[in-house]
Amino acid sequence: MTPTATAPALSPSEASARLRVAPSAARPAHVISMANQKGGVAKTTSTVNLSAALKEQGKRVLAVDLDPQSNLTMSFGINPETLEKSMFDVLVHREPIANVVHQREVDVAAASIDLAGAELALASAIGRERTLEKAIAAVRMDYDYILIDTPPSLGLLTINAFTASNGVIVPVQCEYLSLRGLVQLETTLQMIRENLNGEVRIEGILPTMVDKRTVHAREAIDLLTENFGDIVFKTRIRKSVKLAEAPVRGGSVLSYQPDGPGAMSYRALAEEVLSRDE
Ligand SMILES: Nc1ncnc2c1ncn2[C@@H]1O[C@H](COP(=O)(O)OP(=O)(O)O)[C@@H](O)[C@H]1O
Ligand SMILES: [Mg+2]
Repeated sequence: MTPTATAPALSPSEASARLRVAPSAARPAHVISMANQKGGVAKTTSTVNLSAALKEQGKRVLAVDLDPQSNLTMSFGINPETLEKSMFDVLVHREPIANVVHQREVDVAAASIDLAGAELALASAIGRERTLEKAIAAVRMDYDYILIDTPPSLGLLTINAFTASNGVIVPVQCEYLSLRGLVQLETTLQMIRENLNGEVRIEGILPTMVDKRTVHAREAIDLLTENFGDIVFKTRIRKSVKLAEAPVRGGSVLSYQPDGPGAMSYRALAEEVLSRDE
């Protein structure tokens, strides 16, 4: 076939399809809280590694540390004790969030122990539950994904995170599965939907620290899928010492051991998150 000299006219829909810029550039960030009021279930580990895996997929990612323990901040190699400004200032002194962002593997809005005082400082403030939502609004067009690491409680910091979020990912440790804890979390979310953010819901339950050798882990996952069905991610995060070592090196397991099982699982999780979001 010989090439034609003039291109055929495009129909209006074809023309608009070609003109459309990448969707990531046009829509506000999808905001996800990583939450479970239980400690030690891999909230922080999952925030770090899901952030890095989404970044690897070409997404612009901001990870927000909303836990006074500052584990997310430290996991990205930032020393919380040397911070001039942190999430405390964002929530309590209305510091623009961009001023506490550090550029690491992903952008990190850093926290330090003084964040522990934010709940008290905000307690009597008007609009106290919407403080984070407002702070994030200023940067929502700058990112595709904003992941919020939350403390192990359902207090005001976590409520701020839920109010600011489109969805919640709940990491659960299969070894010590607490269905009652998940029911309590869902009750809190119901309250948030009724009063503060009608949209927010659990967008995924993530089985973590799965030891394939034990029957118990399998039973726990069965129990989860029986009770929660499709919102349980197909990805399971297995126990891996590399996942615990990576933060000591100041980054994700994707940079520490790119071809290891930990990196692979968090990549698989990122793919599930991206496909659910489409
Ligand atoms: N898949 C895993 N395999 C082994 N250790 C893990 C795994 N995920 C997390 N850990 C470790 O378990 C501990 C608790 O994880 P963390 O992410 O800090 O939980 P949370 O933020 O919910 O308190 C940390 O020491 C972390 O390095
Ligand atoms: Mg944590």
